Amino acid sequence: MDMQPERLLGQRLDPAIVTLAEAIPERAWHDWSGAPPVRPLAWIRPRSTEEVAAVLTLCSEAGIGVVPQGGLTGLAGGAHPVAGAVALSLERMNRIEEIDPAMATMTVGSGVVLQAAQSAAEEAGLFLAVDLGARGSCTIGGVLSTNAGGNRVIRYGMAREHVLGLEVVLADGTIVTSLNKMLKNNAGYDSKQLFIGSEGTLGVVTRAVLRLQPRPTFSTSALCGCRDFDAALALLRAARAGLGPSLTSFEVMWPSFYEFMAGSLPSLPRPLSGRHAITVLIEVSGFDAEHEAARLEAVLGAMLEEGHVEDALLAASGKDVADFWAIRESVAEYSKIMGPITAFDVGVPAHVTGPVVERLEAGLKSRWPDVIALSYGHIGDSNLHLVVNVPSAGQEQPAAEISAFVYDTVREAGGTISAEHGIGTLKRKYLPYTRSPQELDLMRRMKLALDPKGILNPGKVLG
Ligand code: LAC
Ligand code: ZN
Repeated sequence: MDMQPERLLGQRLDPAIVTLAEAIPERAWHDWSGAPPVRPLAWIRPRSTEEVAAVLTLCSEAGIGVVPQGGLTGLAGGAHPVAGAVALSLERMNRIEEIDPAMATMTVGSGVVLQAAQSAAEEAGLFLAVDLGARGSCTIGGVLSTNAGGNRVIRYGMAREHVLGLEVVLADGTIVTSLNKMLKNNAGYDSKQLFIGSEGTLGVVTRAVLRLQPRPTFSTSALCGCRDFDAALALLRAARAGLGPSLTSFEVMWPSFYEFMAGSLPSLPRPLSGRHAITVLIEVSGFDAEHEAARLEAVLGAMLEEGHVEDALLAASGKDVADFWAIRESVAEYSKIMGPITAFDVGVPAHVTGPVVERLEAGLKSRWPDVIALSYGHIGDSNLHLVVNVPSAGQEQPAAEISAFVYDTVREAGGTISAEHGIGTLKRKYLPYTRSPQELDLMRRMKLALDPKGILNPGKVLG
């Protein structure tokens, strides 16, 4: 095809879904990864699966790259536009099609915002348990394509665990509708798993059947100051044993994070008065308020007695819960209080996380004495976040050197370079730190089989 790609898209697709050149709004030029904005070749916003298929058929024929976009909240660059490639936004595919109370499922378009799906489930007396900080902007398509994690993974698992059925459009425009609702379905390959977590490199998610849970009737939180990291691990073990499936979050904050955020955002409540080596935020949910609260109190009491926990607060109201979570949720404010950041989402075995954080913070400080390095994470899931800014470096952050040091340390500790955010473009170079040559070769074979022309999300994950 020798026609200009832009003209081809304009002529062959319904003009109602195609935006070209200067008309492409700036919001489609970048995701939240901080990568420099790029104007895509075209911004295409289909309204139906058939329209997605038409776009992919055409792009496949013409060899035009396609970058699928959801709520653009990813931090690894997975949805970041690529020069010369189409940005394919699923935002108009935002219909909640059905809630099936008998099967406890919901069927949604991939452009549905996570929070809207959560609210719809709640209105139906059910519970969509996948939850993350970006809930107000991220979409189901993005959550599934990245196999996102969040704050309740310890109880309900990653996004993958919430998917019963999927509809995807393959690179050549083939629509595969597999909207299964049954919890058990072992009929051959579970091909939906290929598209969950592959960041739009193997197919475009258009619809999904999500598994819903019974809605807990009671939920509360506790904030604990621990003596040291091993004490936080003792608390984790005690909370697992004493609370069982009622333990729905176990978030850990090091002083580097807790003190910096509290100091930078003085209007935030600071419920614990003292300074602690580790601050732990526990969420408990269940169906029997009296029992759950009593069991949580018993766990905290024992931990206080054994000296692992130095101070603990149990929420007495919804306001307390919000106050306890305020500093943890303040991560959305980084751009207001820090310069450009280099952000990490690594996984490290729980028992070595304490020493790894010490090594990371000390190593960064010795190289960049004014460094701000904030450590926190979903430690119940072995998932550590580290956010780094070197103030003296201004806009030119030494991101490559910081990354090399952090990933070397994580590799030595037997960890993973990405626990829940994915690879995108930013972590591609380090994928061999975590995946063997055989694993990488298998990934390449899968890519080649499903996208032989390499049009889907070019340069992402595998490069
Ligand atoms: C968090 C996001 C950044 O846990 O994953 O805050
Ligand atoms: Zn996280």
